[in-house]
Amino acid sequence: MKTSFGPQKILFPLPTGLIVTGTFEKANIVTVAWVSLLTSKPPTLGISVGSKGFSGAEILNNKHFTVNIAHVGIMKEADFCGITSGKDVDKFAATGLTPLASKHIASPIIKECPLNFECLLVSSSKVGATHHFVGKILEVYMDSDKLKDTADYTSFDIEAVNPLIYIGGAREYRKIGEKVGDAYQIGKELKIKK
Ligand SMILES: Cc1cc2nc3c(=O)[nH]c(=O)nc-3n(C[C@H](O)[C@H](O)[C@H](O)COP(=O)(O)O)c2cc1C
Repeated sequence: MKTSFGPQKILFPLPTGLIVTGTFEKANIVTVAWVSLLTSKPPTLGISVGSKGFSGAEILNNKHFTVNIAHVGIMKEADFCGITSGKDVDKFAATGLTPLASKHIASPIIKECPLNFECLLVSSSKVGATHHFVGKILEVYMDSDKLKDTADYTSFDIEAVNPLIYIGGAREYRKIGEKVGDAYQIGKELKIKK
């Protein structure tokens, strides 16, 4: 049996993304859980940002932003950036999070976040009161101490990264659990053997 609810906004798990836009001297941080990879060639990333906040207009003006994935240790700081506005607060100063200069764009990345993306705004559209921004990924950073091999970005230790997971609908934060299988592999067990 299923219980139906009509159209609702619910999805889990989601990353807790901290989006930075502005310049190194004057940047704002906004918490955005509606983040997704969109295409692989070129690599792009999409974010949904409500038009009531400060950040939507800022991203449209600046045409660049960084996406910084929070870990469990900065949960309070990440939540703070989602319940305050850059209109009123300097969120870098208030949280103590550290801006680091990006290579290609003026918006800084956040040092305390283990995974960071520099993005150039390549497309934007509005659905209802929400901006959908598509960012071309210009650079990816990962904390070196989370990598088994610093020449291979896929060699990260996910338990060391300890991403802060957001459960949409329930409005709670969680951490990752145990590995249960290898993707693109385990399904082969159901392939019909000839
Ligand atoms: C866990 C969490 C996830 C959020 N996800 C989003 C999101 O995906 N999109 C969005 O527009 N706002 C999201 N918000 C709300 C914004 O972060 C919030 O409105 C913020 O105060 C806007 O800041 P600004 O005015 O500096 O842009 C989220 C807030 C929290 C706490």
